[in-house]
Amino acid sequence: MMHKTLKRRLELEKLMGIDSLLLSPPNEQPKSESGGDKLSLEKKLAEIEQEVRRCNKCELSVTRTQGVFARGCPNSPLMIIGEAPGGDEDKQGKPFVGRAGKLLDKMLLAIGLDESDYYITNIVKSRPPRNRDPLRGEIEACRPYLNSQIELIKPKIIVTLGLPASNTLLENNMSMGDMRGRWFKYNDIPVLPIYHPAYLLRSPGKKSVVWEDLKKLAAAL
Ligand code: URA
Repeated sequence: MMHKTLKRRLELEKLMGIDSLLLSPPNEQPKSESGGDKLSLEKKLAEIEQEVRRCNKCELSVTRTQGVFARGCPNSPLMIIGEAPGGDEDKQGKPFVGRAGKLLDKMLLAIGLDESDYYITNIVKSRPPRNRDPLRGEIEACRPYLNSQIELIKPKIIVTLGLPASNTLLENNMSMGDMRGRWFKYNDIPVLPIYHPAYLLRSPGKKSVVWEDLKKLAAAL
């Protein structure tokens, strides 16, 4: 990432006729504010990720392989929030890398989004045994991690996947049927709940509904 910034700066300076000898000495970091912010964002997220990997704030730490933090780009405007890691995620240490994740990737690609266009994480960072729904206490124990991610990243739009993620973030008891495809707010951030891709694997007939919702997302982005 530094490399890209430096390259852009060199190109710009060349365009402006500035001799490259005027560049900062090698031990001086380019002091563009956004570059610095980006670095500290990545550093802070990396610190939280380390904490999450070895977290033992709830019972899930006994049965899981590792805490699963996030993947994607923290500088993108879109944050996607799922429920909890499954078996593949638990093994690989990354969210949404199993069958449901692959379907989600495909659907997002269909609206022109790849991993560099979103940041994806879960409400709960450790795999619940046999992929059961996370319990209230587990969600509460994990919540500070998600809060920090949202505070640091400041997404412009959040998409929640499925009922537990949507109910938890929006602090409501509404059904997915009532929430999906409608805009809500979380701390002034627009939130769009959509059906979870794992549900679509079981009920492929609902894919057309999600497609409608994703078109709304694409229009908002
Ligand atoms: N389902 C989720 O909610 N999250 C994952 O990371 C994988 C499957």
